[in-house]
Amino acid sequence: MNINGSTALVTGSNRGLGARLVAQLLASGAAKVYVTARDARSIDPSVAADPRVRVLALDVTDQSSVDAAARAASDVDLLINNAGVLGFGSALDGDLDLFSRDLHTNYLGTMRVTRAFVPVLEANGPAAIANVLTLIALAPVGPMAGYSASKAAAHSFTQALRAEVRGRGIEVVGAYPGGIDTDMLAGVEADKADPAEVARRIVEGIAAGDTVVWPDEASAGAGQVYLGDPLHLERLLAG
Ligand SMILES: NC(=O)c1ccc[n+]([C@@H]2O[C@H](COP(=O)([O-])OP(=O)(O)OC[C@H]3O[C@@H](n4cnc5c(N)ncnc54)[C@H](OP(=O)(O)O)[C@@H]3O)[C@@H](O)[C@H]2O)c1
Repeated sequence: MNINGSTALVTGSNRGLGARLVAQLLASGAAKVYVTARDARSIDPSVAADPRVRVLALDVTDQSSVDAAARAASDVDLLINNAGVLGFGSALDGDLDLFSRDLHTNYLGTMRVTRAFVPVLEANGPAAIANVLTLIALAPVGPMAGYSASKAAAHSFTQALRAEVRGRGIEVVGAYPGGIDTDMLAGVEADKADPAEVARRIVEGIAAGDTVVWPDEASAGAGQVYLGDPLHLERLLAG
């Protein structure tokens, strides 16, 4: 889709990857970007001051908040489902309340926002939805078993959605980053990509009409492994 002149909304865009996605969209010529956060006061005032930016409160787990956002942002033609949480824990020992929070945010939250915005996107089409998933939606990492499962559910939703909105003028893009250097992985020893670079590659993928985006070097390599032999990736990430 053409980013130049588009009207985008990014969930969870007060910080982390979401804030970089906003910056990249504006740099790529978006006419308007709805910058959203659970607490609208957490959005950087210098971002909010940009005349192309509209600030909105949006909690993806709260139906009334999502409905209000869809009414307020009725001109959107690009939705980026970026908001997410990560609760650490293994398959046998992880805290079920944390796993439940991940499911409610990463899976059901993505679905809730998407359902509210599909009529808006259809009316403003051609349009696109990009879901920020993760490489470990495709094969889990042990200490992030609940998070991986929530993102696997969001990956499956992305596939089902793609088929359901085909023919309604809405493209559906899945982005599968590896580790990114944001608060989410603070304190974790791992290779982490620059969030600005990940954002650039996601927006370029949307612009290019890609169905799947591997937005960093680690995910690009692992993605090729996955496409050739999913079990091999499972063994690599488990190791
Ligand atoms: N960091 C990584 O290594 C990595 C790798 C692959 C994929 N991802 C994905 O990339 C996306 C962005 O993550 P990040 O790395 O930027 O993490 P982050 O720095 O922790 O930021 C998470 C963002 O999601 C928002 N959020 C959480 N729950 C929300 C809710 N219920 N409603 C609305 N917004 C909510 C947060 O808002 P608050 O400020 O209100 O908490 C924050 O803006 C997520 O979907 C994540 O799963 C991250």
